[in-house]
Amino acid sequence: MTAQKKSRVLSGMRSTGKLHLGNYLGALANWVGLQDKYDCFFFIADWHALTTDYADTSAVKQNSLEVMLDYLAAGLDPERSTIFLQSHVPQHAELHLLLSLITPLGWLERVPTYKEQRENIKDKDLGTYGFLGYPVLQSADIMMYKADYVPVGEDQVPHIEFTREIARRFNGFYQCRGRAVFPEPQPLLTPAAKVPGTDGRKMSKSYNNTILLSEPEASVRQKLKTMVTDPARVRRSDPGNPDVCPVGDLHKIFSNQETLAKVDAGCRSAGIGCIECKGWAADAMVTRLAPIQQRRKKYEDNPKLAWDILDAGSARAATVAEATMDEVREAMHMSQQYSPPAPGAGGSGGK
Ligand code: TRP
Ligand code: SF4
Repeated sequence: MTAQKKSRVLSGMRSTGKLHLGNYLGALANWVGLQDKYDCFFFIADWHALTTDYADTSAVKQNSLEVMLDYLAAGLDPERSTIFLQSHVPQHAELHLLLSLITPLGWLERVPTYKEQRENIKDKDLGTYGFLGYPVLQSADIMMYKADYVPVGEDQVPHIEFTREIARRFNGFYQCRGRAVFPEPQPLLTPAAKVPGTDGRKMSKSYNNTILLSEPEASVRQKLKTMVTDPARVRRSDPGNPDVCPVGDLHKIFSNQETLAKVDAGCRSAGIGCIECKGWAADAMVTRLAPIQQRRKKYEDNPKLAWDILDAGSARAATVAEATMDEVREAMHMSQQYSPPAPGAGGSGGK
């Protein structure tokens, strides 16, 4: 039997602190399912976090740990996946520098997230070289492992497209022993359920409407109590429509068929109240979170365990990264090895 080599997958999240249900259902849960089929690399992008949070870096280490705890809690498995910390694989910085040399400024200025963030984030000065170069660092992350697929949400597709263009440009300029160094990675779009936050908008840290993967049960229940509902259902006696209600959306994500049917009928006939309905949504959510929080607890109680896994993963990632960098350095004539002059090439020495 000839085992086909598994395709490689790489993805990461910035170290922004504890992850929420939107992060989980939008990305992490999907990654967990990829671990059997693919050779997976998942990492924590702590340098990327600093592209916006450079002025005060005091939280970055704890934030990286929190992301790691959530990765492990969600079911990323260090036996099957390489889980690492970006800043502990310094080869990323070297590749970022080399890629920056061939990156046209216009390509960076055209990246949609760049313009959006410059307009939306007003409390930080994002007029930095590092922030403009965010997609170059992301390209280095992806290209370093010669990833075939990058599981991401819709919003990240321009960054993958950017990476493909940089890889193509690199391969056009430089080859290692006559061969292209980098494949062009493709996005692996996550079939993501949009999780509504407590205010009915998309769940997002910047909206302050999140429910954390590590949210304690009492707090889940409290947050759901204040969640917005179908605005047409003002009084208990008004019928509602679960299809336009954020709590109805939560039921579709978390509840079983039986509860869904009860919600649908009860809401439309005003047979149930919103308080009761929210209680059922909380039950379903708490049930889903329980095994995740149980796994998290083991590492929360002993964070050294999580750091050790991250260190081992980073060491493993670094061996792959160093092999790629060997090819990159050779392709760019930066390799430290002496290469004897080709026969008949004259006396000008190695190049
Ligand atoms: N930019 C990504 C985000 O904000 C995080 C990230 C950094 C990433 N490097 C990456 C994602 C490489 C995929 C691959 O979500
Ligand atoms: Fe929303 Fe449930 Fe209230 Fe209907 S009964 S409006 S689905 S919270």
